[in-house]
Amino acid sequence: MDSGLRSKLEEAVDIAASRVKNLVESYPDFFPMYTEDGKWEHGGEAWTNWCEGFLGGQLWLLYRHTGSSYWREKAEHYSRLIEDRKNDDTVHDLGFLFLPTWRRWYEETGDQELQEVLIQAGRTLSTRFQEPGGYLCSFLGPKSLFIDIMMNVPIIFYAARETGDENLWNVALQHSLTTRRYLVRGDGSTVHEGIFDTDTGQFLRESTRQGWRGDSAWARGQGWALYGFGSVYSYTGQRRFLETARQCADYYIENTPPHGVPPNDWDEPEPDQPYESSAAAIAAAGMLRLSRLVDNTAQSEGYRRYALHVLNTLTEPEFLPTETTEWEGVLKHGIYHQDKGLGVDESTMWGDYFFLDALIEALHSDSEENGE
Ligand code: GLY
Repeated sequence: MDSGLRSKLEEAVDIAASRVKNLVESYPDFFPMYTEDGKWEHGGEAWTNWCEGFLGGQLWLLYRHTGSSYWREKAEHYSRLIEDRKNDDTVHDLGFLFLPTWRRWYEETGDQELQEVLIQAGRTLSTRFQEPGGYLCSFLGPKSLFIDIMMNVPIIFYAARETGDENLWNVALQHSLTTRRYLVRGDGSTVHEGIFDTDTGQFLRESTRQGWRGDSAWARGQGWALYGFGSVYSYTGQRRFLETARQCADYYIENTPPHGVPPNDWDEPEPDQPYESSAAAIAAAGMLRLSRLVDNTAQSEGYRRYALHVLNTLTEPEFLPTETTEWEGVLKHGIYHQDKGLGVDESTMWGDYFFLDALIEALHSDSEENGE
């Protein structure tokens, strides 16, 4: 990457570090989800509890980037605070909770007790499996399958691989195949939610919670899909999952305005907000990984170049609180739940997490390429 972009990305990491430090010092042990007028603490509805791994995840990323004991101590602390969630069978988000946190902690140490927590989280998530339809159901209940779960199913693959448990492996594989069959369309766009008949397992219809319509293309779901199917390819080595990840990535690229940041839903006519920046951050992070997974050099370079282009846009003053120091989040112009009016045109915990993930991945892979 050119030196101008490198400095922009480094500066963005510094901004993220100062915002995360401010958050953990000003609101100890608090797990925010989205800002209101740029402030993390407010009484806004959560809708569901799925974000508690993203703060610890940012702390682990900052530790990886700097090697500083300050970040390490905070990262362990915020990971420990969510340990009990390994038994939480009320949500479908245990990958979001434990992969950014305990997985990184385990990788740092190789400590078996840390790995047990990851395995337990994978086992707990697997209990959401619905035999008739062959999928892990969303927090909304047995008939509902979300595209978001593609980001969480890797923790079941992980637990299955580490324990050699074939049943667990088959649950994760079946879920991925069902999602690929019903939630990824022929043009590479994705469905947010599939509704199934719980007795027969028959797929009934497309639906959405955070997108515009059941048959439309919700941008964040597209990010979850392109990143998630890429991860599933990493675990399984099955090329069909890589092809699906690529189809989803290509849809994103073909349908997003030239600056690289989509609206909340590509199909909504004249949306109030032009940007859903968290979807762009997830897509950039996912495409950087995809660029390592594809073996065709031109394709690999294409995904990397596009991801860097998105990061170039997201590091413009429009998206970062460079001037507006009162703003407590990092990445501006995200959207949580447009229909409910939650976190609209705000910073979000997952947007900040995947933004930092993409920034650090881009900087480190660039240093590796340059032999540094
Ligand atoms: N619940 C996951 C999301 O809002 O994308």
